[in-house]
Amino acid sequence: MAIKTKALLVLSLLLLVATCMQYCVNGEQQVPCFFIFGDSLSDNGNNNNLQTQAKSNYNPYGIDFPNGPTGRFSNGRVTVDYLAEFLGFEESVPPYANTSGSDILKGVNYASGAAGILSESGKHLGDNIHLEKQLRNHRVIYSKIVKKLGGSKKAKEYLNKCLYYVNIGSNDFINNFFLPQLYSSSRTFTLERYTNLLIKKLSENIEELHESGARKVVLVGLGALGCIPRFAMNGSCVDEFNEAAFVFSNKLNSQVNTFNYKFPDSNFNFINSSDALDLGQFGFTVLDTPCCPTRDDGQCVPNGTPCQNRNEYVFYDEFHITEAVHRLIAIGSYNQIKPLIQH
Ligand SMILES: *[C@@H]1O[C@H](CO)[C@@H](O)[C@H](O)[C@H]1NC(C)=O
Ligand SMILES: *[C@@H]1O[C@H](CO)[C@@H](O)[C@H](O)[C@H]1NC(C)=O
Ligand SMILES: *[C@@H]1O[C@H](CO)[C@@H](O)[C@H](O)[C@H]1NC(C)=O
Repeated sequence: MAIKTKALLVLSLLLLVATCMQYCVNGEQQVPCFFIFGDSLSDNGNNNNLQTQAKSNYNPYGIDFPNGPTGRFSNGRVTVDYLAEFLGFEESVPPYANTSGSDILKGVNYASGAAGILSESGKHLGDNIHLEKQLRNHRVIYSKIVKKLGGSKKAKEYLNKCLYYVNIGSNDFINNFFLPQLYSSSRTFTLERYTNLLIKKLSENIEELHESGARKVVLVGLGALGCIPRFAMNGSCVDEFNEAAFVFSNKLNSQVNTFNYKFPDSNFNFINSSDALDLGQFGFTVLDTPCCPTRDDGQCVPNGTPCQNRNEYVFYDEFHITEAVHRLIAIGSYNQIKPLIQH
């Protein structure tokens, strides 16, 4: 463990909040649909009916969300909720687990808490919808869209204009590689080879998305895994975890360049989640202690009383950031995505 204060938490936030006001509030929907793939940073209810510990459809999750607990791993909204809003959507993108009563032509959220790129990641917590399964679910939605629009050519023309957001990989480290007592991957692979394997798998899935019409794709790098309260002790981050996130993100960034070269008909966009950001400047005062009382597994204790000043906390439980941080990330991300949606 390195002695390194966490005054700088590491997050994606390139432009100032003020900039957002000029662009974020814009009634018109900027893309016809928004598809989301990922883990608990993006999940909005897909784990609710799974056999797993990785659920958040109970109090005090959702305490600041209009409908209460929904399966979002936060006190309120998550990044993709804000992104949908900034993109001009009237509502958040529905979870795949419940698209009833919603228009799938506007997009679907496939993200699942504890899920990784590898099917085994996170499985000690129970079931999850790993990336390949998320793609399988997307195939179901794709077929429905083909039917609705009258053929695959029309469907693809439509989907060409949509935004695809993929934010996954943390669980392949914190719920796999760095749990050697439960997973053998760190004995089988070096970090370098393991990361190559992750990028290769991720790329295969992205290529499938491209085949089914995706042309505007955002790929998100990993944040500072070693600085989350579950692992960081006494204000010092775990260097080894941050190093893994750094290696993964660098490779992902290169892969995005490769995709842009390989698919000149498309725009792939890498979002760096590790840009240093002085959260103190945004009014955060508690950088390393979770807002809610937590169970042994790091999630909020059911019905536990969370902190009052939630806008000052970076973390809600031992793993997951608060709504206030999600919002800042969404603003930074939106500013990076903008050129791609206007293209
Ligand atoms: C499913 O979504 C609909 C419409 O958004 C909502 O009214 C309903 O409560 C949801 N059902 C479940 C089980 O979450
Ligand atoms: C954290 O700090 C406390 C008090 O300074 C000390 O007792 C404890 O051993 C430290 N823990 C670690 C893991 O460094
Ligand atoms: C992301 O940003 C950090 C901090 O500015 C930088 O060190 C790193 O190289 C960037 N990563 C990539 C893949 O661009």
